[in-house]
Amino acid sequence: MSDHKAQTWHYGVVARWWAEFNLDGPEIDYFRPFVEAGQPVLDAACGTGRLLIPYLQAGLDVDGADISPDMLALCRERAEREGLEPPSLYAQAMHELDMPRRYRTIVLCGGFGLGGHREHDAESLRRLYEHLEPGGLLVLDHEVPYASRTMPWWKYWLREGRSELPRAWRDEGERRVALDGVEYELRSRVVDFDALLQRITLEMRATMRRDGELLAEDEQVLAMTLYFTHEIVLMLEAAGFVGVELRAGYADREPTADDDFVVFIAKKPISEASAA
Ligand SMILES: C[S@@+](CC[C@H](N)C(=O)[O-])C[C@H]1O[C@@H](n2cnc3c(N)ncnc32)[C@H](O)[C@@H]1O
Repeated sequence: MSDHKAQTWHYGVVARWWAEFNLDGPEIDYFRPFVEAGQPVLDAACGTGRLLIPYLQAGLDVDGADISPDMLALCRERAEREGLEPPSLYAQAMHELDMPRRYRTIVLCGGFGLGGHREHDAESLRRLYEHLEPGGLLVLDHEVPYASRTMPWWKYWLREGRSELPRAWRDEGERRVALDGVEYELRSRVVDFDALLQRITLEMRATMRRDGELLAEDEQVLAMTLYFTHEIVLMLEAAGFVGVELRAGYADREPTADDDFVVFIAKKPISEASAA
């Protein structure tokens, strides 16, 4: 395994932003039937518990893992605030995943391809496979490289487009005010795009202010590999998964070219012989 560091920006102020503002979304109900049908469950890259906490509230048997101790600390705080038993949360990079138990289902929501290292992603899928019981399911979602939200990045596939990198910082970013009156601002910019590796590198400046006074400020880097759908199918098969099904995110139908998210449902064979 390479000694590249996995790179994400879900620390400090960015982690607090997630805990404050990323509480809902169609993913929670989409993944829920898989979680109900096959326990115990691992929520890999669980973050601040957007999916995990509602599942624990429903009495489901779910553990969480994430690379960011900051995200996990906020997940624990929320569980405590909501009167739940302390959840089993593990601070581990996915490509080094080593959990004390095995699972009937693993969900991976918004966490695949972060870090910018293909070898880590391939190893992550192998680790997830190892952590499933025979016959278990991995359900993961993925935003396609041509999604509407990320369309401004499309020009960086071309050499001419990349000549404008790194981008300058914008004067203003996205601002939101939390219930306690703290104002958060996130500003991100693209600093690099490697078309051969299909890897984009972004920087984020995040601040927290109260009445204009700066409380905290962070600068973080996130590298991501922009995988196409059928690359992920091949990676899942190389990790040992079988019967990979594709669904449109987040609906019970096959994906089309117009879907921004694709969900992969991959099975660990009941016996290694049935994988052949
Ligand atoms: C977009 S957030 C999604 C969080 C959560 N699954 C949700 O849907 O609310 C991505 C999460 O992946 C985690 N992450 C990034 N790189 C990781 C890695 N190499 N191993 C494990 N977790 C990682 C981040 O810390 C962050 O919590």
